[in-house]
Amino acid sequence: MEHLYEKAAASAAYLKEKLRFAPKIAVVLGSGLGDLTAGFTDTQEIPYGEIPHFPQSTVQGHKGALLEGKLGQTPVLAMEGRFHFYEGYSMKEVCYPFYVFQLLGIETVVLTNAAGGINRSFEPGTLMLITDTINMMGTNPLIGPNDERFGPRFPDMTEIFSHDLLDLARSVADKQGIEYKEGVYMGFMGPCYETAAEIRAFAALGADAVGMSTVPEAMVCSYLGIKVLAVSCITNMATGIQTVRHSHQRVLEIANQAGDRMCRWLGEVIQKM
Ligand code: HPA
Repeated sequence: MEHLYEKAAASAAYLKEKLRFAPKIAVVLGSGLGDLTAGFTDTQEIPYGEIPHFPQSTVQGHKGALLEGKLGQTPVLAMEGRFHFYEGYSMKEVCYPFYVFQLLGIETVVLTNAAGGINRSFEPGTLMLITDTINMMGTNPLIGPNDERFGPRFPDMTEIFSHDLLDLARSVADKQGIEYKEGVYMGFMGPCYETAAEIRAFAALGADAVGMSTVPEAMVCSYLGIKVLAVSCITNMATGIQTVRHSHQRVLEIANQAGDRMCRWLGEVIQKM
């Protein structure tokens, strides 16, 4: 994306005018996991179409708006709908909102997604804290000229997911009695679900779950100096592990069922950040 800094600055300037609470936390809600925003008070919805230079959202189950609100006393900015590489967006477009978030003063991003389970100790409905990722999307959002105002040319990914936020999420889950697993999320380009052979390969590479988002967003946030916490909802077992065919409808159903637990957990985590 040409003139990324200037575009992001224009988007951020527009949003600064509109936003009332100067949120420091942004959340991105995956397929079927939008319920967290039902607990927001004092809400204001800003459609992506209104924001200069913002891409638009197309997938069923994803809206296209930023929602500002409060969770308890904590101001939060939610992305209702994210941009996926498989929709035909460039990686820079997929990650565009996070460049804007940095300029808005967002310090923490919470990412959620629906994912297929590769680790056989998982089952549909399992919540997985993402401790690390493998980028199998075939490209990288940071390719191209680097603008040092955003971040360094060769960003470190040692702590792509904030260790402090992982600890916070663990302690809130333990306190609430929420069961969760931890694991490595493999980002796959999609839009096809993986083949059984790919899943065997990914298991050998160390992946516990696979999905079509999150990896570029987390990498870019890490580059931008934004702390990231990410949670997968395992909506199905990956190809070859589950014996039935995949269905997007089923993915949404399971995500919706797990939504309550996810919201109770992340709701408290966010208020303690
Ligand atoms: N593979 C990739 N993406 C997914 C899956 C899966 O099995 N389930 C939900 N999102």
